[in-house]
Amino acid sequence: MREVVRQKIIFALDVATLEEVRRFVGLLKNRVGLFKVGLELFTAFGPEAVKAVQEEGGDVFLDLKLHDIPNTVARAAEEAVKLGVTMFNLHAPGGMEMMRATAQRCRNIAEKLNRPQPIILAVTILTSLDEENLKEIGWIGPVSEQVVHLAELAQKAGIDGVVASPQEIISVRQRCGPRFHIVTPGIRPAFAAPGQDDQKRVMTAKEAITAGADYIVIGRPVRLAQDPAAAMDRVIAEIS
Ligand code: C5P
Repeated sequence: MREVVRQKIIFALDVATLEEVRRFVGLLKNRVGLFKVGLELFTAFGPEAVKAVQEEGGDVFLDLKLHDIPNTVARAAEEAVKLGVTMFNLHAPGGMEMMRATAQRCRNIAEKLNRPQPIILAVTILTSLDEENLKEIGWIGPVSEQVVHLAELAQKAGIDGVVASPQEIISVRQRCGPRFHIVTPGIRPAFAAPGQDDQKRVMTAKEAITAGADYIVIGRPVRLAQDPAAAMDRVIAEIS
């Protein structure tokens, strides 16, 4: 049971140094399935950040949210495959052709290198955007509809899943079926005091998984805890 739960947890490595990367991977690698390397860490250290996680025995979700013309994203994705990341993501509004070209390129290169194919996720609509913000950039329609529409488009393009907020899990699952991966940030453990940071629409890990998330992303409630390993054990116990 613990192993099943472990595989579902992604720890957000939002830290500023490679020493901290190594420290957190050492502390948490037996407690989480993936370590998320995001824009800040990758901009600072590049592939060294990914390698630091791997050298300490962790697997990587490369969260760079790629968005460019099809050829450029496909080539960047090829580099991600070569780095040996387990999961990475791109922006669905980059379009069908961009998603399709990327999925295809990843399949080809993984086969050629005899490596497992990474899980490719699409970001639909950033959770920082509301209806008013969408209108500003000329997109009409409720955010919730756009999210499900883009998730479906990603699925048709051969993308494996989406990053979805707690509120979007059920509708994406209904539209895209049981095999589509759903990764959900905005997780706050039941033991965390509510409203302490910028995450507004939150769920507990257990609620998100019960709603249909395959993976949950958790950062600050564990990273800032006095004893991060013990905090992650509490998250695991909540889910179990
Ligand atoms: O610290 P916290 O648990 O809020 O970390 C959540 C992680 O998930 C952060 O790295 C954040 O950038 C990312 N994320 C998010 N909401 C999204 C997409 C990504 O919180 N919609």
